[in-house]
Amino acid sequence: MKRVLSISLLAATCLAVSFPSLAAGEKIGLLMSDLRLERWQKDRDLFTAEAEKLGARVYTQSANGDVSTQISQIENMISRGVDVLVIVPENGEVLSNVLAEAKAEGIKVLAYDRLIKFADIDLYVSFDNIRVGEMQAEALLKRKPMGRYFLMGGSPTDNNAKMFREGQMNVLQPAIDAEKIQVIGDQWAMGWSAEAALNIMENALTANANKVDAVVASNDSTAGGAIQALAAQGLSGKVIISGQDADLAAVRRIVQGSQTMTVYKPISKLAETSAEMAVKLARGEAIQADGYVNNGQKDVDAVLLTPIAVTKENLDETVIADGFHSKAAVYNP
Ligand code: GAL
Repeated sequence: MKRVLSISLLAATCLAVSFPSLAAGEKIGLLMSDLRLERWQKDRDLFTAEAEKLGARVYTQSANGDVSTQISQIENMISRGVDVLVIVPENGEVLSNVLAEAKAEGIKVLAYDRLIKFADIDLYVSFDNIRVGEMQAEALLKRKPMGRYFLMGGSPTDNNAKMFREGQMNVLQPAIDAEKIQVIGDQWAMGWSAEAALNIMENALTANANKVDAVVASNDSTAGGAIQALAAQGLSGKVIISGQDADLAAVRRIVQGSQTMTVYKPISKLAETSAEMAVKLARGEAIQADGYVNNGQKDVDAVLLTPIAVTKENLDETVIADGFHSKAAVYNP
């Protein structure tokens, strides 16, 4: 590796512009599902910085929520001859064919944050997503052990959205069975879009004559849309609502009282671990996984990181102490 680094240093100092092909290093294709959401911009920046520190080159593309765009971007990366594909799948169930092409070219595949199903992938790095769902439901149930609950799911094509719901139900089901809470509706917001969530929440409020006590929202973008609908009916701050990602807007809503909680996932750990693993895969080095997750085709090596539930009470010692957002940005917008 020393030799490679010295060539890339030489390239960087005198030849980089005219002879970019002389810059050495493993080539990583980073395929993002949708860079329009705040969290993914952090993922991209942290991943790229770490991979470049390790001597690799990162080519990034975002599908902006479109499945066929993502498939052509993957094909494009294959023809560029990347060593590893790091993919945040827009739809985790439709990549079998294109990833078989990648395999045939000897390209390694890392599923980043979202599992890719029915495909021969090498590694899955994510958080414990069932636990994320449990944390969302636990926080709400603690505050309102009785009442009318609405379930706002994420994108139906994202495997994580299903795992969040599974975790939520682990916690809610006993309270449903005991007739303490009642689920008054259950919907999924296409593309995790705030606008879709706004429409869903407006309709749910109308259908229930505004009688809603809690909204189990699966992330911060959908929580944001739902809160807009609640605010229009004078219900913001009265209806408790969960989230996920510790997006700046969501953290501010927690301070101001319209959102109850979020789930903070230290993105730096995910991005840095993935970058290190991607470089190892490219070099054919052994990977240290925590265990396996079955993706419908095989047991995939997996690394699953720990999420953290965040409310007003522990905001300072988590999100802010970690430097995820600055105190000034959160408290003095
Ligand atoms: C999920 C991810 C969440 C959230 C959501 C919307 O797959 O785990 O953190 O960002 O996508 O992009």
